[in-house]
Amino acid sequence: MQLKKMSWNRYIKPYLPYFILGPLCMIVEVIGEVVMPRLLAVVINNANEGTLKTGTSLGIMGLMILTALIMMAGGIGGAYYASKASVSFAADLREDGYRRIQQYSFANIDKFSTGSLVTRLTNDITQVQNFVAMALRMALRAPGMMIAALVMAIMLNPPLSVVFAVSIPAMLLAVGGIIRTGFPRFGRVQKKVDGLNSTVQENVTNVRVVKSFVREDYEIEKFHEANANLKQAGISAAKVMIFMSPVMTLFMNGTIIAVILIGGPMVLDNGMRIGDLSAFLTYVTQILSSLVMVTFLLMFSSRALASAKRIREVMDEPLDLTDDDAQHKDLRVERGDITFRNVSFRYYKNSEEKVLNNINLNIKAGSTVGIIGSTGCGKTTLVSMIPRLYDVDEGEVLVDGVNVRDYSLYNLREGVSMVLQKNTLFSGTVTENLQWGDEFASDEEIRRMAEYAQADKFVSAFKDGYDSQIEQGGANVSGGQKQRLCIARALLKKPKILILDDSTSAVDTATEAQIRKAFSEKAVAGEKADPYTENLRRATKLIIAQRISSVQDADTIIVMDDGVITGMGTHDELLKNNVEYREIYESQTGKGA
Ligand SMILES: Nc1ncnc2c1ncn2[C@@H]1O[C@H](COP(=O)(O)OP(=O)(O)OP(=O)(O)O)[C@@H](O)[C@H]1O
Ligand SMILES: [Mg+2]
Repeated sequence: MQLKKMSWNRYIKPYLPYFILGPLCMIVEVIGEVVMPRLLAVVINNANEGTLKTGTSLGIMGLMILTALIMMAGGIGGAYYASKASVSFAADLREDGYRRIQQYSFANIDKFSTGSLVTRLTNDITQVQNFVAMALRMALRAPGMMIAALVMAIMLNPPLSVVFAVSIPAMLLAVGGIIRTGFPRFGRVQKKVDGLNSTVQENVTNVRVVKSFVREDYEIEKFHEANANLKQAGISAAKVMIFMSPVMTLFMNGTIIAVILIGGPMVLDNGMRIGDLSAFLTYVTQILSSLVMVTFLLMFSSRALASAKRIREVMDEPLDLTDDDAQHKDLRVERGDITFRNVSFRYYKNSEEKVLNNINLNIKAGSTVGIIGSTGCGKTTLVSMIPRLYDVDEGEVLVDGVNVRDYSLYNLREGVSMVLQKNTLFSGTVTENLQWGDEFASDEEIRRMAEYAQADKFVSAFKDGYDSQIEQGGANVSGGQKQRLCIARALLKKPKILILDDSTSAVDTATEAQIRKAFSEKAVAGEKADPYTENLRRATKLIIAQRISSVQDADTIIVMDDGVITGMGTHDELLKNNVEYREIYESQTGKGA
């Protein structure tokens, strides 16, 4: 099932009072702003006419102070509610975006680059947040001020107001031109930010690889290019903005001169009072500067819209793998039988080549199965179908006789533990990392499984033992140590099916043999029963390996080549019957036929 399309309302609704109160407070400020010049005009007129110290004048001055206080309250309230609304709105959006990414399937993740996802959840949301804050303060205020100031000006002196009939349309034309050129440029800036972040993210995540290949210069060059692109886009947008202020000032000064040229004689003829002319000039400034504000708002909206679109893409990305249609949501994996029936799969749905081509398989619960084959032949892809990391295109995969699509994803993946080929640890202690497998596992159980995975010895040798800190990605343990911790973590899950995808490639052969031995050991009479050990002995174990020695004791070995199974049997049978297997064996042991 597809989730509903994203709706912005969802993020506004809970904070609707703030979204309304913010602009309302700004309107209070606007009313004060346009009333103030009128009050000042009276005072100036009175001063000019020698009646400044009368009761009315003093009363008006008091009123001015009161207006200023109300304006202050409006301004503070407006800014407060606008910030509260925009910050809460963005926080919810971030939360949902993050949740959404957690629901992504492997195929969904393949579509976006990690850098782009990070930018969308951080920078893009911030852009929208800033715009919302700005819009809440300006969207009503600017047009409100323009209209109110215009009305006040017309009321004050209708004939003089005719200047606006010329200056406002002229300014609108200029502003329109600026917006039209600015709009696409701002959109481009956002794309370049994405490019830059992707570069930084990839480099910083893999900085060790970069260093080991001495590719710093190349990476700096790559960054330089992305940075130069961003700079270029920024300058091109700034060029438009540069025109903004001078053009507006020009129009403003032009209008002021016109008002003085027409209004000056009116004052001299006693057709207009001096205070009124000064109030009129203030209205000119207010009207034209609110136009500038609208322009800025529109300008920034182009950037925010680009960001909003990118956020929407994350939210609306169809989840291609869900358990909404599962028939047996409560069913758990009990035994661990695996069946593949005519399974075919490709990563790119439009490509001709199948990565898995008509695979048929039957694996009995509790057996140990080795999978071997050249690199890129589809081993990882094959086992990925069991915990439904990807869905098959044709055919079906059954676990305990039930289609994997009919389990809830939670129950299926609880039952199937896969140690990924490219595995990772998280920052935290060793214990915290292992508890990923079972958060309730006791220290004793954790130590026990670490022993099976041959991790206990080296962990115990750490200064802080199981409380030692692991760095992000497991950077402070060796490759082989990391693999062993990943195996221990998987064992703690007590899976019915355990998949090790090349999980001992970095472990020396002697240690690997010990891990294998732990897996195959039969219960010793009188030994304390331990649910983890019991479970491990009963679990179906799939072991993908490059070395034949890693799989030769398996009950069955599957030989793969180019998306098909070319042989299946025990080590001895395959040596006899399977040319490819024999070749691999001979190349690894150095024994010629
Ligand atoms: N996420 C992916 N998107 C697109 N193609 C992929 C993806 N993962 C693997 N492939 C392609 O599918 C094919 C099979 O890959 P797979 O990882 O299953 O091979 P493998 O047998 O596990 O190889 P190795 O022994 O090197 O791990 C390869 O050609 C690979 O390029
Ligand atoms: Mg692989």
